[in-house]
Amino acid sequence: MDRIKLLLAAALLAGGFIRMSYADEAATQMARGAEIYAQSCAACHGPSGGPDPDSPLVQSLGVMPANFSDALFNSREPASTWKMVITHGGAAMGFSDKMPAFGDAFPEQDIDAVLVYIKTLGGEHDYPDGELNLFLPVRTKKAFPEDEWVWKQRYTGQDGDNAWKNTLEYEFRVGERGQGIVEVTHEVEGDDSEFGHFEPGFKYVLMHDRGTGFILTGAAQVGVPLNSDANWEFLPYLAFGKILSPNWVLQGSGRLKFDLEDSDGSSAELAGIAHWVHTDWGRAVFPALELVAEVPFERGSGPDRKDALQWSVLPQARIGLNKRGNIALNAGVELPVNDRDDRYDWRAYVYFIWDFADGGLFDGW
Ligand code: HEC
Repeated sequence: MDRIKLLLAAALLAGGFIRMSYADEAATQMARGAEIYAQSCAACHGPSGGPDPDSPLVQSLGVMPANFSDALFNSREPASTWKMVITHGGAAMGFSDKMPAFGDAFPEQDIDAVLVYIKTLGGEHDYPDGELNLFLPVRTKKAFPEDEWVWKQRYTGQDGDNAWKNTLEYEFRVGERGQGIVEVTHEVEGDDSEFGHFEPGFKYVLMHDRGTGFILTGAAQVGVPLNSDANWEFLPYLAFGKILSPNWVLQGSGRLKFDLEDSDGSSAELAGIAHWVHTDWGRAVFPALELVAEVPFERGSGPDRKDALQWSVLPQARIGLNKRGNIALNAGVELPVNDRDDRYDWRAYVYFIWDFADGGLFDGW
């Protein structure tokens, strides 16, 4: 018994030392970061993170250095991207070459230190961290709030005429945790070509934690019919993102589609996706595998009765087009696994993504 107590006491003591040395390490790192910042960054970026527009040095650059004291800007940029900018210089990541490269001047641990320090210059805030801004999947809903244009194209190979659906989506951040959604769909099938739905909506971050790499969001959209065949719809969903390791991220979502005029058209949709994030360069190809299960509320009867879960697999790739990676394609193919007769043969998707908060259409190449 005593021996157990002794062991316990020793374990507690060791735990305390480890915690203390972690805290010491963090304080040393922060002090080192502040020192490097004052020496090597403050002249351009300003002593407290906001560049001084009246400084002759800043004026001579011809481009405004990043403002780390702006909480929204500071939070939305992933530290991994900033590390690339600091190490390789602005030009390597599609920014101005006035932002120097420090990879030769400092060892990696110093760059990590200044990175941790500049992330604190945004002050206290409740914006989710940009590291939780994972790649936009084809079907899985995304949890992170964005300022973004997305043009989605879906081509369906099926019996009879193949179909082509276009969706234009505009997303804009509202406050620290919110995001508005405006979406319009247009469909072409054979000789029919018509607008489908107008889908306004709102998204709100319920939980976000950079430490555990987790974000959870709730959202809802309303489908307003734009042609006489379309019905009113209500589409609430939950979406999460989770950083599993430096190279792997996971996203998942559950969405309900209520057809408000014909309940047979209602369904639930569960989707999940894993992305391999093998590099921090923006212009790269990131493969992913997505799984989708549709659950029709009304399965029908007789030989046409649908399976309870309609599975599809969706191999896809995020393709960063410019150096910043904020202009990208996501392309994939969806293959139904079961119930194939009731569904379609295959679907191909191409999304064009423009995260306009990170630069205009002609920036960052
Ligand atoms: C000679 C002036 C200068 C110095 C010194 C300087 N920077 Fe910069 N930095 C800039 C400019 C200018 C930009 C904006 C580039 C753009 O927007 O195209 C920038 C951009 C950045 C960005 C990118 C932000 C974004 O838009 O995502 C980071 C991060 C950064 N600097 C960190 C640092 C750090 C850390 C140091 C010190 C180790 C430093 N800078 C030193 C001028 C400077």
